[in-house]
Amino acid sequence: MTMPASKITGVGMYVPDNVVTNEDLTKIMDTTNEWIVERTGIKERRFFEEGKDTVSSMAVAATEMALERAGKKPEDIDFIVFATLSSDYNFPGSGVLLQRKLPFRNIGAIDIRTQCSGFIYALSVADQFIKSGMYKTILVVGSEVQSNVFELTDRGRNLSVIFGDGAGAVVLEATNETNKGILTTKLHSDGKFAEELYLEHPGSRRKVRFSPDMMEKGELLPYMNGKLVFMNALKYFPEVVREALAEVNLKESDIDLFIPHQANARITQAVQKELNFPDEKVVSNIDRYGNTTAASIPIALCEAWQDGRIKEGDLIALAAFGSGFLWASALIRW
Ligand code: UT7
Repeated sequence: MTMPASKITGVGMYVPDNVVTNEDLTKIMDTTNEWIVERTGIKERRFFEEGKDTVSSMAVAATEMALERAGKKPEDIDFIVFATLSSDYNFPGSGVLLQRKLPFRNIGAIDIRTQCSGFIYALSVADQFIKSGMYKTILVVGSEVQSNVFELTDRGRNLSVIFGDGAGAVVLEATNETNKGILTTKLHSDGKFAEELYLEHPGSRRKVRFSPDMMEKGELLPYMNGKLVFMNALKYFPEVVREALAEVNLKESDIDLFIPHQANARITQAVQKELNFPDEKVVSNIDRYGNTTAASIPIALCEAWQDGRIKEGDLIALAAFGSGFLWASALIRW
């Protein structure tokens, strides 16, 4: 008996209506459009509106679009894999909040907490469930609200100008077609760098998880060693793409479209150069959305599909690197 493969049959996305330009940020903190564009390539991002958007509500909107494009109903879905670092509640995760908002059956729902690599990890988990025969149709989501994690002030400017809010979703289905769908996924971590991009509080290490004092001292803000993250991203993005290619006996020039996690336009450009991809083979939308962490790849994938940049039979490469450090890649024959 041949093992089924899994293929993406529907893509969807949602971004909040609230567009925040670099110019808007210069009015509330000591920054400039030039600094942000030069260092990151970001021109604007979306910020959620309280009372309207949540991580799970944005996931619902992205899911509805993906389901419609796949010709599926919520009842057809066997399992939910939800990638986010910013779930609506500390617990339970956002998977169950998505489950209750649409007429799904009482299917299983897990949250994946692998930050920037979250969507590829989620895709890989779903792929294994399909390959094993346990499920046939799985919803894979990445959704983030980050504009309220970072501080829109001078002391928070190093991170708050980079990140944005949004959601993307795909429907993954079992297929018996050969050489179709997800060809391979590669997942890695190196926990010795855990504190190089992290948010310590409110964690469970201390008796008191949260205090006004922590807030005042800025201890409730994420920390990022930007230069170290940057250097490692340049190493691991190409490495993990090459590792995936080697496994399926393909080469860099076989890739039709490269969809990296949108961390920084300079990282994408350097990786593109290293892998010899011409501009038309690389998706970059960070100028409009900033870094949306687990949502960045499914949003970029959705836009590339809508723009007609993905054709039947194309070889698509996804890759991500970020907090953990965690990094990952996926090769998909569309
Ligand atoms: O998706 C998660 C993974 N994350 C990444 O991949 C991010 C990787 N890292 C990066 O993209 C870059 O390190 C950053 C874009 C975050 C920062 O660029 P950088 O060239 O490493 O800048 P820096 O942090 O060394 O800061 C340079 C200067 C500093 O001033 P001094 O010390 O040179 O006087 C900062 O205080 O820029 C200053 N600065 C700002 N200036 C204006 C920091 N943030 C800002 C800001 N506006 N928003």
